[in-house]
Parts: sequence; structure tokens; C-alpha cells
Amino acid sequence: MENAIRIKDLRKNLQNREILKGISFDVKTGDIFGYLGPNGAGKTTTIRILLGLFKADSGELEILSRDINDSETRRKIGFVLDEDGLYDNMTAEENILYYARIYGVQKSGRNISKLLEMVELSDRAGDRIRMYSKGMRQRLALARAMVHGPEILILDEPTSGVDPSGQIEIRNIMKKLASTENKTIFLSSHNLDEVQRICNRIAIIDRGTIRLYGELENLRKEMSKRVFIIKTAQSVPEALIDELKHNPGIGLQEVSENELVFSPSGNTEISDIISSLSKKGIKIEEAIKKEATLEELYSAILKVTEA
Ligand SMILES: Nc1ncnc2c1ncn2[C@@H]1O[C@H](COP(=O)(O)OP(=O)(O)OP(=O)(O)O)[C@@H](O)[C@H]1O
Ligand SMILES: [Mg+2]
Repeated sequence: MENAIRIKDLRKNLQNREILKGISFDVKTGDIFGYLGPNGAGKTTTIRILLGLFKADSGELEILSRDINDSETRRKIGFVLDEDGLYDNMTAEENILYYARIYGVQKSGRNISKLLEMVELSDRAGDRIRMYSKGMRQRLALARAMVHGPEILILDEPTSGVDPSGQIEIRNIMKKLASTENKTIFLSSHNLDEVQRICNRIAIIDRGTIRLYGELENLRKEMSKRVFIIKTAQSVPEALIDELKHNPGIGLQEVSENELVFSPSGNTEISDIISSLSKKGIKIEEAIKKEATLEELYSAILKVTEA
């Protein structure tokens, strides 16, 4: 499959700080690609470079196998940044028309009503957007991003600040764009559940370094080998839980009433964990191998656990 976006050893310093420390990954055409990572990890910086708003210090960058500075290549990208770039005093229709003109889209090629229909705003097309909800604005911003018929959509946290039903609507639009219009979608997000639902490929960036990258299904399978749930007959004493937490090799992920979740690393086997629990007098009812959720994968990679 062709690469929609190819990033190789990309580096960027800002104010003498290394913000991107040589990142590499590919987005294939047709992907819905999720770009994850904590606040300040470098997601928006990467996106700015992809959009030509920042210049990388070094590294290679290609969009659809072409140089990103080529103006033809630029037109293949539509984007929504954290600032949606919409004008409050204009109607939805006028906002899109405005961008159609900026992109030099000929009158005959303008499909404003179709775009508004796609984001389910046809009935509000003539309203000034001042009164729009955050979800409606984000949907309009998506329509606006599509005005010149790009092949790739780059979206910086497209559902951030949107309520759950609004998030579902935006996800449905993204899924539809990918499946029926063959768009490639690259989105950054903090919503792991969302990314798990719609993305087929992901990368996790942390402090300027890619920590995990690949096909989500494969990553989940690989991790599953190493994630286990142990159900116990009685609740595990606090002191023992503390002890388990202080043993990084066994990777205690979650603790609830009669259930412990482990993601052991290195040579630690599940049998080792079971026997050490048994030695402490804990009766084990069941030990199951679990398919890792993206959230578990994320917290294992970034070494954050819920208290
Ligand atoms: N113009 C700038 N000048 C200096 N430092 C910057 C600039 N823009 C971003 N940074 C720094 O670069 C780092 C990465 O920021 P970036 O906005 O890319 O993170 P992010 O992953 O998008 O975070 P968030 O999830 O909060 O949106 C941060 O430490 C930030 O302070
Ligand atoms: Mg950001």
C-alpha cells in the first residue's frame, strides 16, 4: 500500500529544546491513523511540520511520495487545528464558500451543500455560526477542511471538548470519509477509546520520541500475550498490593476487589506471579490471558498506572 505520509528521523528544536528527537512512522493510504501521547509530547508540533507551518531541522518528509513543499502536494491535504479557523459572524455556508475561494475552487467544483449534508448541518446552513455548539463547529470545520477535495485529512484533536453524542457524530463522519470516500485520516487524540474504535494504525509519542507504532490489531495481539487477569477468592491485602507494585517486573496494572491485572515484562512468567501469590496465602480462582485494550497498552508504554 502506498504511503500517504512518510516521516523519517524528523527533528525539531524550539527555543533550544529538542521537541522532536528523530521520529519516524508511515501513514498508509486509507488509514485512520491515531497519534497519541501526553500533553506536550510533540503531536501538534509534528502536525504543524506536516502542514508546512513549521520547518523541520532535519529528517525526511513525504506526502503521497512527494515533497511536502510542492504546491500540488499541499492541495492534497485538508486540516483542522485546535483553533477551528471559522468565522462567527458568517453562516455555515458562507464559511465554506470563503474557504472555497481561498483554495481557488472554481464555482463548478464547489459542492457546499453536499459538504454540509455530509456533516449533517444542511438544516442550519443559513445560520450564523456564533450560536453553534462545539460539536457543530467541529463538524463544520471538517466540512471546511474538505472543500478542495483533499485526499488526506490531518486533524488535531477533532473531538476535544465535544460531548459524547457529538463525539459519536464526528467519529461517524470520519469513518464514512475513510470508507466511502477513500480519505486517509491522521488524527491526534487523548481519547483512547475513540482511537481504539476507529483507528487501524497508531503511534504513541512521548517527549519527542515514538514509543510505539504499528497496526493496532497486531499491537493488541502482541501485548495480549503479556496481559493477564488473576481472579482471587478473597480480596488481596493492601500490604501485599504495595509489595506487588514495587516489583516492576510483574507489571501490576489494575487492582479491584477480587481481580488483579498484570502485564509482566522480561522473563517474568504468569506462573511466577501465581506461585508468589499462592505463597502469600492468596487463593487463585482463575488466571486468564487478556486482549490488551489501547488504554492498557498506552499505560504500559508510558508506565502510568491507576492508583
Ligand atoms: N512555538 C513554540 N515555541 C517553543 N516551544 C514550543 C512551541 N510550541 C510548542 N512548544 C513546546 O513543544 C512541546 C511539544 O508541544 P506540542 O504542542 O507539540 O505538544 P502536544 O503533544 O500537541 O500536546 P497537547 O496534547 O497538550 O496538545 C511542548 O513542550 C511545548 O511547550
Ligand atoms: Mg497538541
